[in-house]
Formats: sequence, structure tokens, C-alpha cells
Amino acid sequence: MMISKRVEKELNKQINAEFYSAYLYLSMSAWCQIKNLNGCANWMHVQYQEETAHALKLYDYIIERGGVVSFDAIASPKISCKNIIDIFAETLKHEQHVTSLINNLMNVAISEKDHAATNFLQWFVNEQVEEEANVTVILEQLKMIDGKGSALLMLDREMQQRVFVPIAKV
Ligand code: FEO
Repeated sequence: MMISKRVEKELNKQINAEFYSAYLYLSMSAWCQIKNLNGCANWMHVQYQEETAHALKLYDYIIERGGVVSFDAIASPKISCKNIIDIFAETLKHEQHVTSLINNLMNVAISEKDHAATNFLQWFVNEQVEEEANVTVILEQLKMIDGKGSALLMLDREMQQRVFVPIAKV
């Protein structure tokens, strides 16, 4: 079944949103790097790679369904964070926003009775649960240590361990 124009449009909007997320996290990575928080910078850089992979997963899917991929301008990321706690608070807020975008996208697929797209989007629904949970743990730990001192250095070292894992094809 060919993809409907409505689902195609929404998937394309989500590609743009994922690339915006990639931009946002890359800018946060640069912020962390300037503050010598190299581990946090690494975590954000992996996050940037993940978001790019999300965009490409949507791109591949539109093509697989015989749809047309469209490219809109990517907005420049705005971050106004004073400290590392703010950075992760903003990250959580952003992921919660992305979750709402995914839920809306799922609602469109359901209303269009596009079962294939619904099934495909389930991956993103699950991914958002994981994204929010991971960021919440980091944010809460940062709050525990007040986002500073030797405890921050230890947490930063831990963040250095994160590596990008490509999305498995299913
Ligand atoms: Fe692509 Fe962080 O959600």
C-alpha cells in the first residue's frame, strides 16, 4: 500500500525534527567541551549521532514505502543554559517534546488506518521511553551532586564511556 500524503507529510516533518534534535545536541556538546566537561560532551555527541540515525530511519522508511522525502530548513538551536544541570534539564524537556511529536505522528498513522506505519512508529514510541528514562537518571544524579566539584568530575568520566550503537535493522 502506498503511503498516504498525510502520513508522508508528517514523517517528513519528523525527519526535520530529528535533525533539529541532532543540531541541538551538537550545540550542547560544544557547550560542554568549552566547560572542559569532555565526558558530557561525548554523551551529547553520541546523542547527536543517535538523532541523525533517527532521521535516517524515517528517511529510509519513506523511500521504502514509495514516498517522497522532502528537506526543510533546520532551525538553529537555541540554548540558554547557565550550568550543566540546566543542560540536562533542557535535554529532558526537549525529549518530552519529541515524545509528544511521536505520539501525534502515531495518532495520524492510526487515523489513516496505516497499520504498516503504526508498526514502524512503535519503535520510536519505545525509543522515547528509553530516552526520557536515561536523561532523567543523569539529571537526577547531577542534582544530587549539585552539578559541581569532584563528584561532577567522576560523573563526567562515566559519561565518557558512552558509545554510539547503530540502529539494528529489523
Ligand atoms: Fe530522536 Fe531523542 O529522539
